[in-house]
Amino acid sequence: MKILVTGGLGFIGSNFVRYVLKKYPEYEVVNLDKMTYAGNPENLRDIEEDARYHFYKGDICDSAIVDTIFSDHAIDAIINFAAESHVDRSIEDPGAFIQTDVYGTFVLLEAVKKHGVKRYIQISTDEVYGDFDDGGFATEESSLEPSSPYSASKTGGDLQVIAARRTYDLPVMITRCTNNYGPYMYPEKLIPLFVTNLIEGKKVPVYGAGDQIRDWLYVDDHCSAIDLVLHKGELGEIYNVAANQDPEVTNLELTKRILEVLKMGEEMIEYVKDRPGHDKRYAVDCSKIKLLGWKVETPLKEGLEKTVQWYVDHEDWWKKIKTGEYLEFYKRQYEER
Ligand SMILES: NC(=O)c1ccc[n+]([C@@H]2O[C@H](COP(=O)([O-])OP(=O)(O)OC[C@H]3O[C@@H](n4cnc5c(N)ncnc54)[C@H](O)[C@@H]3O)[C@@H](O)[C@H]2O)c1
Repeated sequence: MKILVTGGLGFIGSNFVRYVLKKYPEYEVVNLDKMTYAGNPENLRDIEEDARYHFYKGDICDSAIVDTIFSDHAIDAIINFAAESHVDRSIEDPGAFIQTDVYGTFVLLEAVKKHGVKRYIQISTDEVYGDFDDGGFATEESSLEPSSPYSASKTGGDLQVIAARRTYDLPVMITRCTNNYGPYMYPEKLIPLFVTNLIEGKKVPVYGAGDQIRDWLYVDDHCSAIDLVLHKGELGEIYNVAANQDPEVTNLELTKRILEVLKMGEEMIEYVKDRPGHDKRYAVDCSKIKLLGWKVETPLKEGLEKTVQWYVDHEDWWKKIKTGEYLEFYKRQYEER
C-alpha cells in the first residue's frame, strides 16, 4: 500500500510514519508537510534515507503540489494529520487554522475525487464535541459544539468530509481522538512543556485551578487505532478514540503525576490566569472502535514514565526548539497576562 500522510513532520504524523514503516515492510509513505513551526525534520531524521519514504515540502491548500504527488506516485490512501493544532495559538490567530484545517481538507477531498483514492482518513479531535461537564460521554452521534477557534476549524474540516461522503460517495472516514502524548511532541503542549520546564529547573504554569478534565492517550495507541481504521474501518464512519482513564484525571492531578515521575514537589507549580473559553471536561465514548478490536496498550503511568524518559534522553531535540519564536510565544502566553 502507498499512503499519502500529510503533516508527517509533526508530533502524531511522525510517530505514525515510523509506526507504518516498521510494521509493514512492503508499504511506502509519501509525506506532504508545510514545515510550519511544528513541522520538524528532526522528527523523522532516522528514516529519511529509507527508500520507502518520500518527502514533499508543501501546503495541503496547494492543489498543484497535491496533483504533482499523484502524478509521481500511485497513492492508495490519504491520512490527513496536517493542521494548525494548538488551541492557545488559535486564540491569537484563528485565520491560519481556518485556512489549513478547513480549506486544506477540501483540497485533499478534491484529490480523493479526482484521483480515485481508495481510502481517506481525517484525523480529528474530541474537542469538536465541546464541553461535557455534565458527566456524560460524547458518542460519534453527539452534536458538534466546538468552543475554540481550533476546534471550530477542525469541525469545519469534519463537516467537509461528511458532506463529501454524502454528496460524492467518497471513501472517507474520521477519527476523533483525545489528547495524545509521547515522544516528539512540540514542547508548547502541556505534557512536554511541563516535563522540559522541570528538567530545566523551571516552574510549570497551570491554568486556573487546574481542574479541567482531559483524557490522555499514548501516541502509539493512537497510531494503532488509525492503522485499524485504515485497514478495517467502514467507509463513511466516524470513530472516537480515547484512553478513558478511570478515575478521570484533572490537569492538576496530571501535573502532580509528572512531578512524581521526576521526583519533584508541588512548589514547582505556578497557577496562571485561565485561558478564555477553556472547556471544563472532554470525554468520549469509544466503544465503536473497540468493536473493531482496538484496545489501549499503554496505561497513563507507564506512558508518562516513557515520555519523561524520552525528554530526559533527547535534550538536544527540545532545547533547539525552545528558543526564538517559542520564547516570545511563551512570554505572551504565561508571563504578560
Ligand atoms: N496532539 C493531540 O493531542 C491531538 C489530539 C487529537 C487530534 N489531533 C489532531 O492530529 C493531527 C496532528 O496533530 P499534532 O499534534 O501532530 O500536530 P502538530 O502541530 O505537531 O503537527 C502538525 C503538522 O502539520 C504540518 N502542517 C500544518 N499546516 C500545514 C499545511 N497547510 N500543509 C501541510 N502541512 C501542514 C506542520 O508543519 C506539522 O508538521 C491534527 O490534525 C490534530 O488536530 C491532535
